[in-house]
Amino acid sequence: MKLEGRNALVTGAGRGIGAAIALRLAADGADVVVNYLDDQDEAEGIRAQIEAMGRHSAALRADISNVAQAQRLMEEAITALSEIDILVNNAGIEKRAPFLDITPEQYQAQIAVDLSAPFFLTQAFVRQRVAARRPGSVINISSVHEDLPFPHFTAYCMAKGGLKMMMRNLAIELASCGIRVNNVAPGAIATPINRTLLSDPKLLKPLLANIPMGRMGQPDEVASVVSFLASDEASYITGTTIVVDGGLLWSYSEQ
Ligand code: BGC
Repeated sequence: MKLEGRNALVTGAGRGIGAAIALRLAADGADVVVNYLDDQDEAEGIRAQIEAMGRHSAALRADISNVAQAQRLMEEAITALSEIDILVNNAGIEKRAPFLDITPEQYQAQIAVDLSAPFFLTQAFVRQRVAARRPGSVINISSVHEDLPFPHFTAYCMAKGGLKMMMRNLAIELASCGIRVNNVAPGAIATPINRTLLSDPKLLKPLLANIPMGRMGQPDEVASVVSFLASDEASYITGTTIVVDGGLLWSYSEQ
């Protein structure tokens, strides 16, 4: 198994893409810490599924938008599994708001969860890897919107665009420490974050029309790429984004 003996921390792993990633990393041999914010039962359910595969796991609550809690999460994850060598910055929030309406609180929450949390978690991760003189892999779940404008989602796009530059910078800065840093950029994936869209045919139809493959992606189709990037099969890949979007990002056509 390609991740045997590896230990991962996945943020926002109670549901959606994060849960699929946690389960996939475990299926590929890793022990996995499941971070969650608000639903302990859901996270314990994922932990139980990981343990049923014969792996070690722990479900750890933390509001990673708070820097002290993010740092504490990394410490607790290391205590739980004795070391962490794969960090998946998955947790994210997304708030639709026209530019003229977005409040300072909404703006700051978006940037805190989607950009600052990955920054400080990665810093805590790298500190312990460098102190132990051990290699590691960081994978950020960004979005096609690290490149693609999305009207009414400016703060979200700013955070994802920032995550792209964070990844590119750190890939260079940390290469000599044996730490690889990459992004996975999903397009439209069927998860709880877009529940409203999924249940409204009027919203869904124009979205599907933008996707050359004509369907939304499944969380597993993102998780398999994360597992690949975390493994030695991707040993020469750093500083890059793998887009998982059914062709959405570069889709353009005329009648
Ligand atoms: C967002 C989805 C959106 C998709 C494609 C993702 O980053 O989370 O809400 O449908 O991008 O635009």
